[in-house]
Amino acid sequence: MKGVILAGGLGTRLMPLTRVTNKHLLPVYDRPMIYYPLGTLVEAGFREILLVTGGNNAGDFLRLLGNGAEFGLQHLNYTYQEGEGGIAQALGLAEHFADGEPICVMLGDNILQRSIAPAVARYRLRGRGATILLKDVPDPGRFGVPVLNGERVVAIEEKPAQPKSRYAVVGVYLYDARVFDIIRGLKPSARGELEITDVNNQYLAWGELAHEFLEGWWTDAGTVGSLYRAARLVAQERTGEK
Ligand code: DAU
Repeated sequence: MKGVILAGGLGTRLMPLTRVTNKHLLPVYDRPMIYYPLGTLVEAGFREILLVTGGNNAGDFLRLLGNGAEFGLQHLNYTYQEGEGGIAQALGLAEHFADGEPICVMLGDNILQRSIAPAVARYRLRGRGATILLKDVPDPGRFGVPVLNGERVVAIEEKPAQPKSRYAVVGVYLYDARVFDIIRGLKPSARGELEITDVNNQYLAWGELAHEFLEGWWTDAGTVGSLYRAARLVAQERTGEK
């Protein structure tokens, strides 16, 4: 199983911080943002990892990370997304790299307190379909939101004005190789992007979407508010201070 980190996009919600650099190179407490998802995948045992970048500063990722030696990697793979066609478009660029294997996809602006290794291990046992992770949040309307019927996910809505649950879909996804067939059939959403939520809804329609509830804190870091929150959470974690 291989790992994919999506760090394309233009980070417009963080302007002017992102005028001259890529969002994922901004600091979150004492490290560049991209260190966190990369650290999470490496900790979960991934050794073959593809980083999808984009924008004007893609070369800086190579300067910063090289072959990933700082993370104990021997090699790191890179590819480039033209424009900002959405998370699913960025993921589509990983098809050649995945080469028919299942993949663990992580958004480059997501930061998790705990290991994803147990969820990855459970997915390996199932061996097919998709797994998403859910976390209860105070502001679900900013995210993909599951509609729950008891313990069952019956739909996922992207940034609903009236969220039907208090959960967000976390930016960590486990997929089998059919994900690339799904992406080929996607149409752009109202915001002009190929949506990862549409991918997940296709697995749901096939009856092959599993979900788990994430333990420990989780945050994205793609808005001024969440970037600040991410830095605070990491600082508390490192220093033990409240
Ligand atoms: O953080 C989790 C949320 O991420 C999910 O709950 C949502 O369902 C999902 O759509 C996504 O929501 P956002 O609108 O917050 O995603 P954003 O546009 O900020 O993109 C998140 C990361 O995905 C970004 O840091 C880099 C990558 N990305 C995004 C786009 C639009 C790409 O690689 N290429 C892209 O074109």
